[in-house]
Parts: sequence; C-alpha cells; structure tokens
Amino acid sequence: MVELGTRTGANGSNGTNATNGRTIDGSPLAHDAEMAWREAQGASQIGPFDYVPPMGFREYWYPAVFKKDVGAKKPVFVKMLGEDIVFFRGKADKVYALFDWCPHRSARLSQGESLFPGTITCEYHGYTFNGEGECVAGLIDAPNTPIVGKMKGRSYPTDEHDGVVYVWMGETEPVPLAEDLPPEIVDSRNHSYKHVSVWDANWTEPVNQGIDYHEAYLHRKTFNYMGGWTQPWKFKFHGLLSKELPFFRPRVANYGGIKIVHEDEKRVCSNPVNVAYGEDFHPGVNASWPRKRWYMFLPKRVRKTFSLMGADGASLLGIPSFSHGVELPSKIRTGSGSEKPAISLHMRWMVPVTLETCRVWTYTIGREPKTMLGKAYKKLWYHLWRKPNTITRINEWEDLVTFQKDRLRYDLPQKLSTLDTVVIYFRRHLAQRSRDFQRLGGAYGSNHPPTKGAGLQQAATGFEQRELVGVEGGDC
Ligand code: FES
Ligand SMILES: [Fe+2]
Repeated sequence: MVELGTRTGANGSNGTNATNGRTIDGSPLAHDAEMAWREAQGASQIGPFDYVPPMGFREYWYPAVFKKDVGAKKPVFVKMLGEDIVFFRGKADKVYALFDWCPHRSARLSQGESLFPGTITCEYHGYTFNGEGECVAGLIDAPNTPIVGKMKGRSYPTDEHDGVVYVWMGETEPVPLAEDLPPEIVDSRNHSYKHVSVWDANWTEPVNQGIDYHEAYLHRKTFNYMGGWTQPWKFKFHGLLSKELPFFRPRVANYGGIKIVHEDEKRVCSNPVNVAYGEDFHPGVNASWPRKRWYMFLPKRVRKTFSLMGADGASLLGIPSFSHGVELPSKIRTGSGSEKPAISLHMRWMVPVTLETCRVWTYTIGREPKTMLGKAYKKLWYHLWRKPNTITRINEWEDLVTFQKDRLRYDLPQKLSTLDTVVIYFRRHLAQRSRDFQRLGGAYGSNHPPTKGAGLQQAATGFEQRELVGVEGGDC
C-alpha cells in the first residue's frame, strides 16, 4: 500500500511531501502507484488517449441489453464500441448477437424478425441466419440454394447474468464472463438495481470523473445534503432531519492529497487524505475558500459508513473501504458498500457507443436485506431517493452537463496534478495492464495501437468500422 500526498503546509494548506508517511511494499503494482504519485506532483501531460482507446478496450465483456427486452419475435438493435449489433433469440432461451448488416446485400437484420427458434430472418429477401451467423435458409430461394452454408455474418459471443445479456467485443478467445463482472454482483449475498441511460460524452470522461475528486467543488451545493450552505434559499429540509445534522457542520473545503489504498491487475482504488473542513486560505487569491461561513457551529463529522473520507472498514469487494475506484475496462465505483444493507455501492459501467456517446449502466449494489420489511424499505429508498437524487440529479444534472458534447475537448493538451493521481494511474498504468495490451500489444485508436491485432482497420482519426464480413467462398 502506498500512502500519498501528506499535508505539510502551514495552516493545513495544500502542500505535499515526497517522503513523509509514504510506504512502499516493493511490489510492481506499488511501483505503479509510486510512479503515478510522482507524475502527479508536477503537471502531468498524459493524454486521454495516449494508451486508452477512444472507442473502448475491446478484449472484454460488456453489458448489452436486458434479456426481457429481446422478444420472441422482435430483435433488439444495440450500437456499442462503434459497431451495429442485433440481439435475437426467437423462442430459444439463449440470446444471440450478430453484426447488424445482412451478409446478403447489407440490409439491417434488426429490421427483420425471428421466425424460428434461435434464428433471425432478414426483412429484405428472407435469408435466415443462426446464432453463429451461418445462413441456414433462404425462404424464397430454393431449399437447395448453393448460398446456404456459404454465407456467414459475424457473430459475437454472448452470456447472461441476473437478467442482463453481456457480449464479448474482442477478437481473441473470450474469457469466462465472471472474470469481467464486478465481483459484488456475482456474490449471491448481494442485490443490485440497474439503471441504463445514454450520455452525450465519450466513455472516458465519465470514468475520469468517477475517480478525480471533483465533488467538493462541483457538488458543493449538495455535498453532504448541505444544499443551503452557500445558497440559503436552496435549503434542504431533510438536511435538518438527519441525525448527523450535516446542515450545521462544516463541509469539505479541500483535499490535502490522494491515497491509493488498493491496486491489482484490473483495478485501483483510493481515498482522499488530510481533508480540510470549513475553510482554507489560498495565498494566490489572498482569501479563504469557501467564502461564506453560514450555520457551521457544530464540529465536523465524518460519515464513516460511506468511507468518502477514508474511514476504516471492509468493502463489498473484501478489501478496505475506499471512496473511488476504477476497474477495467470502464467501471467506476463511488463508495465501496458495506456489510450493512443500508449502505450501497454506486457503480457505473460505461459502454462506448460512438466517439461522442456512451451507454451508462449504473449498478446500485448492497447486501440483500434479510426481512420483508428490509426489502420493502430498500426498494422505496432506491426508487424515491437513490435513483432520483444520485443517478438523475447529481450524475446527470450536475456531472454530465460539465463534460457532455461540445462542453469538453479531448484534443488539447491537459495538465494533471495531485487530485488526478488516479486518472494518471488509469491512463498510463491500468491501460497497459488491459487485455488489449496483453493480447494485442496495444489498443485500437490510442497512440499505442495493437502490434498483433487483426480485423480492425485504423483510420487517420483513430477508428474505423470493423471490416464487413461477407460471403465466404467465392464460388457463388
Ligand atoms: S439483404 Fe438481407 S436477405 Fe437480402
Ligand atoms: Fe460527481
């Protein structure tokens, strides 16, 4: 474990020290944390796509569609990682996925229907394909037509978990689905709510935003339910009702540093350290921030159960609790959950759609309540509080609007510093531990493209559609 960013400045200002309080266990991963921390002490220029692919890491499973939405007759179209995919099942139980463009003359298969179990029939000329993409019949062609058996579309491996169909987007052999699922949803003691929405943003920014410690500024009006703190007319009545009385306590003024509390092959997790409450003096503007002290006469109180301030305790991952974490290929966690059913983990799994859009799967995961009353309360809590407040109001109305299309650029040089320590780690170190780098030697569209990959073409812009898979065998 590496302890980073120890406050050294007078009056608790933002100083950091390269040696004080820092321990390294000598493992290569700790070395990555050390390197990320060192890089953060200056003004790192690691770019969003130096190692990270703009259209997503490909050698992974991603959530695609709820199984209940794939009809016995009607297929479902889903665009992901820049590819058009049709999901269908007919009356079969298993959901299959094919490249959406018909191998015959390139109509959309998703406009067709499933007439036979486990197949899809194109609406144009009636050629019919099975789950492997093989043409098995031409309904208005002769039953012995030579094209059957010679025409094949691209198929994508699929698997299911808890009502969700996942699809393997890689070009190498898929790993077992469980390897890419968040361990918390595989744990049968847990329950999860899932919410899906499309965000107008490249998939990387919701990841960066999930690990960058922006809360104390961007969410300063709602942080710890203290809506009335800087804008009294937005006073929130429930802030008074909470037994912690957050409305009357000082809120976070700044973070003194970032501590990486866990790193492994697929994830890195962190906590803020040396948090300053109330206000802090910034000599550059010769003033304190926040500027208004209003109703802060009670002492600070850290919400231990949420772990935002780095409290002790175990997470649902089985590692010490943490505030923010990122897991390959594109999942972030805010909070880490707890054994107490009342404390849920907030996880977003970003699925790239186009360069400018992504589908955000938000999983709210916690221990399954044991009693009927507990289950009913949890359901009410999710639908009346967590979903409207956190997923919609905070994530979409406060977070997304700062970086959605046309409000944030990816092509200009960036300077990353202390609070971006985990962003640096993700962009430089975690990206290179991805399967794309391990199996292909690089990531498509990044500044380090594959050295061994095949099947994708690189355009000058960094990405181009997968080559169409057409008729196999040139004799028909
Ligand atoms: S284009 Fe699909 S059957 Fe002809
Ligand atoms: Fe946020």
